[in-house]
Amino acid sequence: MAPLDPHKMPVHLAVIMDGNGRWAQQRMLKRIVGHQRGAETVKMVVEQASLLGIKYLTLFAFSTENWSRPALEVRALMTLLKKYISHETARMMRNNIRYNIIGNRSELPADVNETMDKAIHKTASNTGMVLTLALSYGGRQELCQAAVRLAEDVAAGKLSTAEITTELIDSYLDTSNLPDPDFLIRTSGEKRISNFLLWQLAYTELYFTETNWPDFTINELQKALADFQSRERRFGMTGDQITQRGGLSNA
Ligand code: IPE
Ligand code: IPE
Ligand code: MG
Repeated sequence: MAPLDPHKMPVHLAVIMDGNGRWAQQRMLKRIVGHQRGAETVKMVVEQASLLGIKYLTLFAFSTENWSRPALEVRALMTLLKKYISHETARMMRNNIRYNIIGNRSELPADVNETMDKAIHKTASNTGMVLTLALSYGGRQELCQAAVRLAEDVAAGKLSTAEITTELIDSYLDTSNLPDPDFLIRTSGEKRISNFLLWQLAYTELYFTETNWPDFTINELQKALADFQSRERRFGMTGDQITQRGGLSNA
């Protein structure tokens, strides 16, 4: 594999971490063991992404739809999440990483929110990678929320409909402080978006691997990034136009 070009890294990498349950079930283990092992992969990817100079890493950790899972699994996931965040904050400080959360936080248990607030506060002035966890997140719900707030602002006379642009809509989303993802990785062989960042993924390069999340390795991450670096992003233009511009491709 050719070495990675540090100048062609995705600015924003998003990941749908999938396959924890199947990883465990294939080994006759409880699904939660898969989630625990998945948390180890999270540590590795966070560390590697930060070392590789990726500025924004966004991880889909729990979807709006995941609330429909058995209560026991949901509870175990929340406990794991809380543990992960409180244990990892020291490492985030050492690696200059800033925490960020997107999703409907009002649906999360109070103790999870509390832990999260502490971690966000503690890492707030870090200047390295921004690690965004998507928790109780759904793309449609986010867009719906944005529409409600936009409509309220129009009704209150703060905004006219003529001012509604794509940039304005961006500013009403949970991701208003993040650039759109350049690259999306989904593990476990599923080839779908599952309600993740629907608006923001408009021009994102997509990558799917059969590997379940707990088995995802540094090598696989590098292989995925090498694939990203080999692509030409055209944003609706022709290949010739991109070449003339000296390659607008990737980052
Ligand atoms: C991803 O693994 C973690 C979450 C969605 C919380 P899954 O739990 O979806 O694993 P599979 O898809 O059942 O294997
Ligand atoms: C997507 O995985 C959500 C997260 C990774 C948190 P799911 O396992 O919930 O997705 P579906 O249900 O297979 O589409
Ligand atoms: Mg799944």
